[in-house]
Parts: sequence; C-alpha cells; structure tokens
Amino acid sequence: MSSSSSSAPQRPSGKRIVRIRKPGRESETPQTTGSAVPAALAADALGYSLLLAARALAAVHAGRSLNEALARLAGEPAAARAAAQDVAYGVLRGYGRGEFILGRLMAHPLSHAETQALLLAALYRLETRPDAAPMVVDQAVAAAGELTGRALQGVVNGVLRNFLRRREELLAEVQRDDVAHCQHPSWWLARLRRAYPQDWPRIVAAGNSPPPMTLRVNARRIAVGDYLGQLQAAGIAAATVGSAGLRLAAPLPVDRLPGFAEGWVSVQDAGAQRAAELLDPAPGMRILDACAAPGGKTAHLLERADADVLALDVNAARTRRIEDNLRRLGLTATVRAADCLAVDTWWDGRPFDAILADMPCSASGVARRHPDIKTLRRESDIRKLVHTQAAMLDALWPLLKPGGRLLYATCSVFVEENAGQIDAFLARRTEARRVGEEQWLPDDGHDGFYYALLQKA
Ligand SMILES: C[S@@+](CC[C@H](N)C(=O)[O-])C[C@H]1O[C@@H](n2cnc3c(N)ncnc32)[C@H](O)[C@@H]1O
Repeated sequence: MSSSSSSAPQRPSGKRIVRIRKPGRESETPQTTGSAVPAALAADALGYSLLLAARALAAVHAGRSLNEALARLAGEPAAARAAAQDVAYGVLRGYGRGEFILGRLMAHPLSHAETQALLLAALYRLETRPDAAPMVVDQAVAAAGELTGRALQGVVNGVLRNFLRRREELLAEVQRDDVAHCQHPSWWLARLRRAYPQDWPRIVAAGNSPPPMTLRVNARRIAVGDYLGQLQAAGIAAATVGSAGLRLAAPLPVDRLPGFAEGWVSVQDAGAQRAAELLDPAPGMRILDACAAPGGKTAHLLERADADVLALDVNAARTRRIEDNLRRLGLTATVRAADCLAVDTWWDGRPFDAILADMPCSASGVARRHPDIKTLRRESDIRKLVHTQAAMLDALWPLLKPGGRLLYATCSVFVEENAGQIDAFLARRTEARRVGEEQWLPDDGHDGFYYALLQKA
C-alpha cells in the first residue's frame, strides 16, 4: 500500500486517519508555497476512498492489473476499500470518458499520475453522485492535499468546479466523441463494427454495464429447484438459466448465499457454464483441462460426471485456487502446475477422450468484469494471443483419441481468436471436424464467450 496511508497515525479510538492540509484557495494555479495546515482525512471520509481509488487507478495506468492494484489496498479499512473499488471499476469501465472531459478542462494531463487519477475518480463520483457535488469537490481537494500538499489542490479544485459549471456542454461533447461515448479503445470498436455490424452497439453497451451475478448449482449436493427454494427462503431473488444456473436479481457477497461454504454453489457466468454442457462428460472419461485455473469449468465437469480429470495450469499460484475450489465442492481431480505446450514434461502418453482448451485470450467478452483490460490491452496483443492459441491447439490435438472431442473456448468476441482461429486450424488438420460452434455476445444475462467443439476422425 501507499506510503502515506501505511504511515497513517492512529487516533486513540483506533480509527485510521491520514494527515491532510486544508484546501487552498479556488484557483487553477498550482500552489507551491505556504504552510500546510494539518487536518484529518478520516478513513470513512469520501476523500479517503477517492485517494485509494486514485492510487489503484494510477497503478493500472502504469501497467498493473486492477486485481493487483486493489490487492495493494489490503491493509485499508473494508468500507474505504469497497468504496475505492467501486470508483476504480467505474472509472475503468468508462474508458476514455473521464480522460476526454479532462482534456477539455486542462491544457495537458498532470505529470503527477496519482493526482491525475484522482481527478478521474472525482469526476466519476460527481457524475454518479451529483447530489453530493460540493462534498465531492471538497473531499477531492483534501485528497489532493494528501498526495502533493498544496501544490495541486488549486488545480483539482478549479478543474472540478469548471466541470460542474460546464457540465451540460461537456456531456454533449462526450456524445459526439466516439471513444468517450462508447468507452472502448478505437481499435477495439473498429473490430466490433467490422465483425458485428448490427450487434456492436449492444456489445459495447453490455461491456460498459455492471455484470450479472450467476450461480452454478453443484448437482452432487443439491438440485437446482431446491436451491432456488433456499434462495427464496433467504429473500434472494433469482431465476434459472441453463441446466445448472441461477441468475441473481442483484449481486451479493458469497457469504450471504445459503450453503456456499458447504459447496452447494459456485459463482460462474451463464456463458461459462456452457463449456461443461457442450463437452458433456460421462463417468470414467479421461479428460484433460489444459488451462484450468481457477477451476470453474473443471469443477463443473466433475459435478456432472465422475470423470478422470487432469487439470493443468501454467500458473502455480492459480493451480492452488483449483485445489481450493475442488475441496469446497467435494470434488477430485489431478491438478498439476505445468505448461500445456511442453507436452513432454507432463503427459504420460495415454490419449484423452476429451480435452477442454479454455484459452488465454483478450477477454474482450468479459471486459465489464475486468475493466482494466480496456486500458491495458494493446491491439498488438491480439496477434500474439492468436499465435499462442494456435500453438496450444496444435500441441493438444495429438493427445486426443480418434473419435474424441476437443472443446476450444475463449471469453472473447474478436473473430481472430474464435471462428477465424478454428477455420485456420481445420485447414491445417483434415482429420478435425467442427461439430458445434457458439458465439455468445455479452448482454444483461451473460458474458461473451466462444466455443468450438471439434471431433477427431
Ligand atoms: C481463461 S483462463 C482459464 C479459466 C478456467 N478454465 C476456468 O474456467 O476457471 C486461462 C488460463 O490459462 C492459463 N495458461 C496460460 N498459458 C498456459 C499454458 N501454456 N499452459 C497451461 N495453462 C496456461 C492461465 O494461467 C489461465 O489460468
């Protein structure tokens, strides 16, 4: 976590505070002199959560993932962290929008990255809490004081007040700017428009909205209808989706779900639940889950059938999450940290009846769950990912029995990673047949996924 909050003095009550200086005068001119007046920015103050959000956002802008950036706030009070997370998600989901507005209000971005990120965080709060505008501005100025003393408080104050004054005009300009309005990078929009001339606005809108929360009921523990009854008894509204899914009317923490710790349910998007339905495991089948962490699809396969599953992932830390998930759900698989491309290092030479190849991908179908993707992903990444996916397909295909099925999966909506990838593979492998294909586009009900079920002749 940041230096200032880790060095935060403690009040006798134990409440965490950080030292701030009182706001400077309302001016766009940076204040570089004058004595700081210490005050306290309480951990439950809006300014404190804006400060934390700014730190997380600056870390993402510097190339870290949002998960990593938020993990660095681990020592902070839960409420401040939750509020900061909400702001950070909102700002990143609104890719380009805040930056566009700031570009209209400032000649150039501030060189102090955290204060620039603080402006984005405060703008987001001003847009989502217009009723609290004066407090948001005051608290943002207080947070700026914590970051740079008086140096940039005047700028923060001036920029935010200018936004409030010019709000209508600026929001009208946002509507006319493609990136700011669609909240996606221009290269991403170009791909969507090319591939989905009808559907792209719907995909963009879904990509900018908060995602639904869907559960997968563990068929080994409880029937879907019975679990729905448990939810209803707990006052939690939900609707069935697919063969094992229940979509909640509103997201909630998993510890409020009946039987979560006992493994009755997992959280898994309805689109992701299609994998096990399509691969349709049978008892005794020998299945390779080549890219398995954190194990959502591995677990679903095992909930459906007593299969013999080998679950690999190249990331050892993530393989531990597979083990944790399987333990909670009462399921068993062989879990190994291994690079599926280095077949010689882990394969015993016995072919598989079925393979799940859930590829590393752009994650363009789940950007609303990982909104940092819109900031971190580069157009050039797509070509590299397509190359890796092709290499994985080529490495895994020979491990499949004749007559066996391989399910290729991505959480992407980009054609190169999906149908384009499989078209190229089928051209290379004449003994491969495409026996099923589904492109799921994200909407209110589920995320974006692609599946191709391939059979070996
Ligand atoms: C889309 S995620 C898998 C999600 C998982 N199937 C689930 O449903 O929970 C892709 C995974 O591929 C893993 N991965 C990437 N390259 C790999 C490789 N060469 N060998 C094995 N796993 C790899 C990543 O660590 C990541 O966990």
